[in-house]
Amino acid sequence: MIESPVSKPAAADPVELAMLEVDALIRQRLASRVALIDQISGYIVNAGGKRIRPRLVLLFAEAFGCHGPERLELAAIVEFIHTATLLHDDVVDESALRRGRATANATFGNAASVLVGDFLYSRAFQMMVSIDRMRVLEVLADATNVIAEGEVLQLMNMHDPDLTVEDYLRVIRYKTAKLFEASARLGAVLGGADAATEESCADYGRCLGTAFQLVDDLLDYEGDTTALGKNVGDDLREGKPTLPLLLAMERAAPIEREFIRRAIEEGEQQRLPEILAVVRRTGALEATRAAAQQEADKARTRALALPPSRAREALIDLCVRSVHRSS
Ligand code: IPE
Ligand code: IPE
Ligand code: MG
Ligand code: MG
Repeated sequence: MIESPVSKPAAADPVELAMLEVDALIRQRLASRVALIDQISGYIVNAGGKRIRPRLVLLFAEAFGCHGPERLELAAIVEFIHTATLLHDDVVDESALRRGRATANATFGNAASVLVGDFLYSRAFQMMVSIDRMRVLEVLADATNVIAEGEVLQLMNMHDPDLTVEDYLRVIRYKTAKLFEASARLGAVLGGADAATEESCADYGRCLGTAFQLVDDLLDYEGDTTALGKNVGDDLREGKPTLPLLLAMERAAPIEREFIRRAIEEGEQQRLPEILAVVRRTGALEATRAAAQQEADKARTRALALPPSRAREALIDLCVRSVHRSS
């Protein structure tokens, strides 16, 4: 018998096939009676994005043998929450570029962005209710609340050159790692994992999310705008004290330390190349990547505790890619 050149469905990755269903579901659930909502939500969703959080839900569900339709709904829900945070975040950060396009706030204005962000949050909650599981509601209500706390904490830390590394880490755990943690945990909850296993999966998500944001903060200095689809240098412009700057201040000579302090206090756009030179020379970028690597290694250890499977391999691969990424 002649083999078909087309790869057999059995060889296709079930999680990647399910991601196509999630994408279709996202589009279906975005629908609103209000044209401007469709326009703005479509604008940001159609620009793509890496879809890491929904993939985490599906990979953990797969690792525990859960193939029910609620996993697709949950994957779409975490992407809606993520997208809502991006719409709000770009207003707060006055960002101009996201996913390679002008941000929604730059295109449609701040008011419309905030309100459509609210629509996405509340649509996510409508979808959660449809799943009809109190535990799921609890995990996502907590995560959404903590993300908001993280963004507000960060706002309070703006322009503060004396921020401690510990306080910086708290912000990134809240604003970013919490949704990674919830995504991983929900996959385990759907798969009926016991309490200890669920915690281990949640740890994976928290560590991966922390690594992810550390690298994001690194890429804001040494990344490439085209690859990232976001403008580099935004954090310095805003006077946001992220790890590359905090470590550079620890390591720099007094005169350079004073230069960075002032840049954080006042925000700085013009002298990014000079600041970047100090950040590079002090090894602050390598040290930030090393911190991300440590978190990714912790995540990897949690993944290795799962029974061997294709999903587990993909989770391990994500640990590598979260540290060595350019987009
Ligand atoms: C951006 O997240 C916000 C951060 C937490 C750094 P992603 O980098 O996952 O954004 P998209 O969805 O791929 O655009
Ligand atoms: C994004 O933080 C975190 C959330 C959206 C909650 P950042 O402000 O650092 O991320 P980017 O660089 O805008 O994607
Ligand atoms: Mg931002
Ligand atoms: Mg921000």
